[in-house]
Amino acid sequence: MSTKLLIGPFTQVLPMSGLPLKGALKDEALAVVENGGVLISEGQVLKVDTFTNLLPDADKVQQVEKDAVCLPGFVDAHTHICFGGSRARDYALRNSGKTYLEIARSGGGIWDTVLNTRRATEDTLARGIVLRAEKHLQLGVTTLEVKSGYGLSVEEELKMLSAIKRAHLETAQDLVPTCLAAHIPPKDFKGSPDLYLQEMSQTLFPQLRAEKLTQRIDAFVEEGAFSPKEIESYLNTASQMGFDITVHADQFSTGGSAIAVKYKAVSADHLEASTAKEIELLARSHTIATALPGASIGLGSDFAPARKLLDAGACLAIASDHNPGSAPMGHLLAQASILGTFQKLSNAEVLAGITFRAAAALKLDDRGVLEPGKKADLVIFPTGNYQEITYQQGQLHPCGVWKNGLKVV
Ligand code: NIG
Ligand code: FE
Repeated sequence: MSTKLLIGPFTQVLPMSGLPLKGALKDEALAVVENGGVLISEGQVLKVDTFTNLLPDADKVQQVEKDAVCLPGFVDAHTHICFGGSRARDYALRNSGKTYLEIARSGGGIWDTVLNTRRATEDTLARGIVLRAEKHLQLGVTTLEVKSGYGLSVEEELKMLSAIKRAHLETAQDLVPTCLAAHIPPKDFKGSPDLYLQEMSQTLFPQLRAEKLTQRIDAFVEEGAFSPKEIESYLNTASQMGFDITVHADQFSTGGSAIAVKYKAVSADHLEASTAKEIELLARSHTIATALPGASIGLGSDFAPARKLLDAGACLAIASDHNPGSAPMGHLLAQASILGTFQKLSNAEVLAGITFRAAAALKLDDRGVLEPGKKADLVIFPTGNYQEITYQQGQLHPCGVWKNGLKVV
């Protein structure tokens, strides 16, 4: 018989269950279990209830601090934490008036990181991922998506994805790998962007399959990256081969979200430039709208229209976009809280965006809520009132994190 462990008592448990996947959420809809506990076994949740109701079923009790709130572990559905080098210079240039695209055109930007990433060994990249993932874990993130996209050749993209796979063996979190070979057309590729994409889909995709390196294909649809027209056959091949699709869409100009919806992407991410038309399109689709407030904070630009997306009926996930260029901070909770302030999001909407709605953006239905049978991924905060969590805008740090039922922080 497997041991049943009762964790608690918590002043409040927010299981995030019973809420719709799409649309606006009021805080009144949030289930809050006062004096709660979480009963777990073999890495899964058995039951959430009051501590006293669960006590008779428990073989063991793990006590927590006096005032604590428990939530499902956070899911960060969009990061680029596999990279070499730093772009502190880009940041300074931007803050003295240069635009992201100007810096990219003058030798900085994504290409600079590509060169530094190519110089790094797989081992060095893996160690970098592990260090960054550990910081995310301390901040409550128990599932973390990680993209390639700074390799931009078959060999270098494989190196990045192998580094992500290797890092996964050493991190407490689950790392979900994504291939972003379609990040920008590489400056050293001899041929058109079409030809580059063709090489990636014909040569890289089969190897990703064979080596089981990823199930997800991403593309950056933007001026200076790939146009909607250029990306279509790439996404078509990816989808025919059974990959899940996600798109960097509408960051500076529109076009990407329509492509995302057309190719039934799991998510369209960024959306800072989305207008009423794109909002409607996303709301009517199954494509999850992922806001990346970290990129707005890093670039000093507008936030994605999160309020309008929710009111139109879209599913809104929130992710950190942690990367060396546009989003160097890498603090999901701080960024989600700040997005909430600027976009007038309820606590329920912010917390849903980094738990079950973010899990859905990775097609993971086994986490993001504390319900029987779901993963025992928990984050606990040293407060008696869940409202403190977003209110402190990332400054209230978790006092405990469980991954698959094991205490890892
Ligand atoms: O999501 N927008 C494109 N890609 C990344 C930025 C990557 C970089 O600047 O290095 C993003 O913001
Ligand atoms: Fe990104």
